[in-house]
This record gives sequence, C-alpha cells and structure tokens, in this order.
Amino acid sequence: MPCKLAAGNWKMNGLRADLDEMRALIAAHPDPDCRMLICPPATLLAPMADLAQGSRLLVGGQDCHTAKRGAHTGDLSADMLADAGARHVILGHSERRADHRESSDLVSAKARAAREAGLTAIICVGETEAQRDAGTTLEVVLGQLRESVPDGANAGNTVIAYEPVWAIGTGRTPTLEQIAEVHDALRAAVPDAEMSLLYGGSVKPGNAADIFALANVDGALVGGASLKASDFGAIIAALDAA
Ligand code: PGA
Repeated sequence: MPCKLAAGNWKMNGLRADLDEMRALIAAHPDPDCRMLICPPATLLAPMADLAQGSRLLVGGQDCHTAKRGAHTGDLSADMLADAGARHVILGHSERRADHRESSDLVSAKARAAREAGLTAIICVGETEAQRDAGTTLEVVLGQLRESVPDGANAGNTVIAYEPVWAIGTGRTPTLEQIAEVHDALRAAVPDAEMSLLYGGSVKPGNAADIFALANVDGALVGGASLKASDFGAIIAALDAA
C-alpha cells in the first residue's frame, strides 16, 4: 500500500512566531495514521525540526541545489537540508518552474541529489489552464513525470504531487473526475506502483475528504491551508479517516 502523506508547503510564509501553529498541530495530532509533514521556509527548518523532536511531525525543504556544496550564492544543498533536520524536499513546484525557469531535467538532477542526501523527493507535476483547455493535460503531466523522475526512483525515496497550476492558491479545484483521471494515469505510469500520489491545489478542510476518497489519491500537498494548525489538522483527520 502507498504511504498516506499530508504535506504542508508554507512557501515564502512564516516567521518564528508562527511556530506556535506547529506546537498546536503536534498537541492536537500526537499520533496520526498518516505521515504529517511541513515544509517551512529554510529559515524555519532547524527551529521547526527542533520543536518536532519526539513528535510525529516531519519537516522538509522546498527546493535544493543539484550540487553538494560550492559557489552558489543563495542556494541550499540537499545535505544542508538534511543537516537541518529535513526528511523530504519539494522539487519542481510550478512556482519554481515558472519563477526560476526550472526544467524537468533540472528537477531530475535535484531529485538525484536529494536521494544521495537521504531525502525523499516530492516531485510536482501539473498542467496550466491553457494546456487543460487544449486537451493536453495527460500528455503534459505524464511528460513531466517521465522527465522529472530519475532512474532508480522508488516508493521509498520519491513521492509524486499532481498540482494543476490553475488550482494553486485560487480556490478553484478540478472536479473529482478530473483528479481521478490524472491520478489513475499517474498510477499506471510511475516506476513503482507503491509510490504515494498526492493531489495539490486549493485543498481545504471542506474538500479534503472527497478528494481522499479517490482510489489513487494517497494524500495532499497543501499550501494556504497548511499555515493554520486547525485547517491542516482537519485535513490530517480527513486523510486518517479515508
Ligand atoms: P494551495 O497551494 O493549497 O495554496 O493551493 C498548493 C501548493 O502550491 O502546493
């Protein structure tokens, strides 16, 4: 069975005062059935990992460089993330593909670096609204999967997140049929059938249970709703119940 994972992506949000939300989350969900992960900005990685010690909360990074170290001002290596307490790293998020022109080849190289550092890579794929309107969703998503997932990826070192670009931060979600169509296609295409498949894009307490009831959805990558312990906690409870 693929592992169930509720992953939060804080993006460029969060100051030290916001760690209180994680204290509240840990207190409310001391022993969830699913894995519970928050990927805070790099500035909060070590303090969040410290406060998560002894709890079920996992922490992760939002990106890493392909190299282990060197002259790359402003970048972080996978080893540095692991050293700060990360267990996972989000790679190829559509905001990085757009803002930093990251290609699938680069994402694949980053995923190899993450694996060498012992991190699980959460590799994101997803179509734009124009691509969906043009009827190319499956072609785009499966193409990104093929090119972004390195050889040797398996359920132990890789998670796939399907995030339609037009659903991220917009409050709009695909229909359940649209999510199921992509997740069924991903399940058939991933190199290891046990790989966890997350849905991401405007997941909220109000829609999580319906999304988690779909056969090939093993969890969620949650942006806005992961910033508040009460909202993320409700999503964790929905995943536990699924
Ligand atoms: P959202 O973001 O939940 O705020 O739509 C999801 C993501 O980008 O990972």
